Amino acid sequence: MIDKIKAHIAKVEAFATEKKEELEQFRLEYLGKKGLLNDLFAKFKEVPKEEKKEFGQIINELKSKAEAKINELKEKLGGQTSAAPAYNDLTRPAFPMEIGSRHPVSLIKNKIVEIFANIGFSIAEGPEIEDDWHNFTALNLPEYHPARDMQDTFFIQTRPDILLHTHTSSVEVRYMEQNQPPIRIIAPGRVYRNEDISARSHCLFHQIEGLYIDTNVSFADLKQTLLYFTKEMFGKSKIRLRPSYFPFTEPSAEMDIYWGLNNEIDYRITKGTGWLEIMGCGMTDPNVLKNCNIDPEKYSGFAFGIGLERVAMLLYQIGDIRAFYENDVRFLEQFKSSI
Ligand code: DAH
Repeated sequence: MIDKIKAHIAKVEAFATEKKEELEQFRLEYLGKKGLLNDLFAKFKEVPKEEKKEFGQIINELKSKAEAKINELKEKLGGQTSAAPAYNDLTRPAFPMEIGSRHPVSLIKNKIVEIFANIGFSIAEGPEIEDDWHNFTALNLPEYHPARDMQDTFFIQTRPDILLHTHTSSVEVRYMEQNQPPIRIIAPGRVYRNEDISARSHCLFHQIEGLYIDTNVSFADLKQTLLYFTKEMFGKSKIRLRPSYFPFTEPSAEMDIYWGLNNEIDYRITKGTGWLEIMGCGMTDPNVLKNCNIDPEKYSGFAFGIGLERVAMLLYQIGDIRAFYENDVRFLEQFKSSI
């Protein structure tokens, strides 16, 4: 009997494997419930008294050697998994690749650009760092004009006449200076205002400016263009133009959309009126045309300016304007399906 156990000890010591399955087999053979060691411990009771000591020692030796061997091999094989890894299967479909999403402001911008492109407007661009002339003076806002206060401005410290443009209307001026009518442009851009940051306003936001200059352009053309835009963009077909004031347009108006009062949200966002203010607009002031070397006797036109964040907040039900600039992926990911 003792010799048999000694032979097992030698076998345990010599055991080696590269496979986890074989190691498990080995463990069951020696240390499993129905394994050899349990058998031997059971037999221990029947061993004559004078042999008990030697027998006990040798089965304990076998047990500890088997345990040590298993631990040693387990550690060695630890990193490997027994089944072939999934990526060894070359016919398996690739892991889905995470794609990014467009920013909600870009989505709105692209939509608006597309709507106006369909009626012949092309895109114009202008610098964000602008001079006083293009941002204010040429737009009928001479120095000390009180309406300059409507737009708190970031100036470049060392140059009082250089600033971050406060509206995309500056792009109108640049375009008119370099092009003669007919002019049909939209100018998307980022604008800056020295305002306190809150859920409703930010020191930077985005606008799209529209400008149409030609012979015989009337307020009716403005109204029809905005109505077309409203239908395409919002699927609504009722607008109103409320008299307003902008130095660069005469007459000036705010365009409201009739949003309706169909549910609780409608009541909240329209403050119970059903109407939503969407943009400023008007007939380009003759002084502005003159400043840009366009003959106001011959040409007339209209302009409008839309805030993109406002539209995005409305369409995507976003409650806080700061969400646009924080780059929180949990926010951005939600626009994946809108591309
Ligand atoms: N520039 C104005 C603003 O930033 C928006 C605006 C109003 C633009 C009327 C226009 C316009 O072209 O005609 O508040």
